[in-house]
Amino acid sequence: MNDATLLPMRTGEIRTHGPDGFEGMRRAGQLVAECLDMLVTEVKPGVKTCHLDDLIYTFILDHGALPATLHYRGYRHSSCISLNHVICHGIPGDRALKDGDILNIDVTLILEGWHGDHSRMYVAGQPKRKAERLINVTYEAMMAGIAVVRPGAHFGDIGGAITEIARKNRLSVVEDFCGHGLGRLFHDEPNVVHSASHGTGPIMKPGMFFTIEPMLNIGRKNSAILSDGWTAVTKDRQLSAQFEHSIGVTETGYEIFTKSPAGYDCPHLVS
Ligand code: MF3
Ligand code: CO
Ligand code: CO
Repeated sequence: MNDATLLPMRTGEIRTHGPDGFEGMRRAGQLVAECLDMLVTEVKPGVKTCHLDDLIYTFILDHGALPATLHYRGYRHSSCISLNHVICHGIPGDRALKDGDILNIDVTLILEGWHGDHSRMYVAGQPKRKAERLINVTYEAMMAGIAVVRPGAHFGDIGGAITEIARKNRLSVVEDFCGHGLGRLFHDEPNVVHSASHGTGPIMKPGMFFTIEPMLNIGRKNSAILSDGWTAVTKDRQLSAQFEHSIGVTETGYEIFTKSPAGYDCPHLVS
């Protein structure tokens, strides 16, 4: 063992990575994207969310990786599954999916020491029109946030782009949860704020790795945590949606590590 195999500490600075980091993140990102691809045909009315979590656990171990959320700060599952008015950190359980349910499935795995963190919205059966619109706009907002990423841009430009899309569509942006740096660590500097203004925040440099994972609500932005200590819901119990990609800043722009090899980045548009 040499120093390079030790887990780094959080330094308060935004870390930059070289070609080995890009290669590691590419592998981890592709694996977690394949895992979410696998779920496209499994999400349907009648299926319990703990069954989806079991499939995720098995997929990850079968591919030589580890679920990053298992035993993370006391969390006991391989995914977060957030249904309808749940914003994020929904706990897989006995609840069977019903026709028209919308759900975010968020999986983070560790492959050869690198973290792939990725989530998508799925629908069980037929979505209601306003749920479908929420999902589509949230996907558009995440992609608009990603599109501003390049060396010299400010982190606030991401939140600026996301907020513009949300406002145009009369949806609110959750402020209580952020994206985050990642790499060999699950949660590292910086906090990636989804509700921000252009030209604010730190400046992006090649080799920075982070997630963009906006949560948009039909009603108000406010959240509450249920008594299980994890589940974050909308205070007004209206629908919430989220997408998440892990990305890296390149010399000229960005690379999305978690792009779907099957083209299922927004699953309900294809299934
Ligand atoms: N995957 C989540 C994220 O995007 C974190 C989940 S932590 C858990 O950062 F403990 F709730 F699983
Ligand atoms: Co994340
Ligand atoms: Co995640």
